[in-house]
Amino acid sequence: MTIHSLRTPAVLIDKARAIRNLDRMQAAADARGVRLRPHSKTHKSPVVARWQIDRGAVGICCAKLGEAEVFADASIADIRLPYPINPSNADRVIALLGRTRLSFIVDHPVVAKQWSDAMTRAGKKVDVLVKVDVGFHRCGIDPFARDSVEMVRAIAALPGLNFRGLLSHAGHTYHAHSEAELHGMADNEAARLRDLVGRCRDAGVPVEEVSAGATPPARFSLQQDGFTEFRPGNYVYFDRTQVALGAAALDDCALTVLATVVSKPAKDRVIFDSGSKTLTNDGARGFTPAPGYGIVLRGSGGQLTSGGQSLSGGHSLSGNGVPVPDDNLLIERLSEEHATVRALNGTTDLEPGDQVRIIPNHSCVVSNLVDQAWLLEGDRIEPLEIAARGQIT
Ligand SMILES: Cc1ncc(COP(=O)(O)O)c(C=O)c1O
Repeated sequence: MTIHSLRTPAVLIDKARAIRNLDRMQAAADARGVRLRPHSKTHKSPVVARWQIDRGAVGICCAKLGEAEVFADASIADIRLPYPINPSNADRVIALLGRTRLSFIVDHPVVAKQWSDAMTRAGKKVDVLVKVDVGFHRCGIDPFARDSVEMVRAIAALPGLNFRGLLSHAGHTYHAHSEAELHGMADNEAARLRDLVGRCRDAGVPVEEVSAGATPPARFSLQQDGFTEFRPGNYVYFDRTQVALGAAALDDCALTVLATVVSKPAKDRVIFDSGSKTLTNDGARGFTPAPGYGIVLRGSGGQLTSGGQSLSGGHSLSGNGVPVPDDNLLIERLSEEHATVRALNGTTDLEPGDQVRIIPNHSCVVSNLVDQAWLLEGDRIEPLEIAARGQIT
């Protein structure tokens, strides 16, 4: 099959770009002797997880047990959930323990005790890491709290848990306003973890693993000392937000949404068939505000198709070449099935039937919306099942 036979909207994964992204991150982790354990949230695909493991990743991360179940079915042998899963799911964890090496985070003494009790009742032990809040203020223990070492020690002593170490996620880096601020956040994350690890070890609590991971600060985080593991997710595809945070170039973005112009109500307004059901309502983040719902890519020679005839090049219908954003086009509004696109200079040559590709603001959420994406190599496409998408428990 070729891209020309696709119905739109369709999610395209440029295979060469995705593989290049994986190779680069793996090389950066290898150079520092840090184990790479990618978060699968961005691709939700056992096929892509296998690409990562074949390149040296030690396993993957998921957020939800339903995702872990899909990856375990696909024989992924080491799965970590850096998510505070609810002990009401103990039966599912116990079932998974026989099928994959499973670990997850705890950050609350009561929840940790519930997990330990459930495991003890089942005659099992489960690997856990204590989540540390390094500035995102989502979950995690406060490393500055007076009782932080005591908390770690108490969790490590629970009989049903096998304490592996500490884990953080610098999600606040998505809100950095500058390269320098982002760099500082990465420095702080590492410093806070090193400090807590030191205090735990001084108190006789063995910390074997120190796991960090996020794509925006990766270029700085992988220069830090003290991490044993890094867990980036978005880096496989990147997106408009990562470009705006300096984590990727436009040419690194591997996931695009192929869309068709379905109406042109005015010379300065066209409608694409990719609404919030495909692009999602997520806004872009980055050092400077970026309005709208993605970057519209056109062929270097003009529109991509016209009346069914494909036109030339760029990061256009084929997977190769350099992306050519059409800065005149602002995707200013999404309804579920419509993207309302305004031509900023008052006119656009796009006509109904023409196709564009859109780099979304946030690629992870796009993956979660489709059962199937398309792997693109040149003009050829093959289906890529997003097997772990839609798993909410
Ligand atoms: C706990 C945790 N670890 C790692 C990641 C990967 O972050 P990123 O997608 O920025 O690479 C995420 C992303 O949400 C996360 O929540």
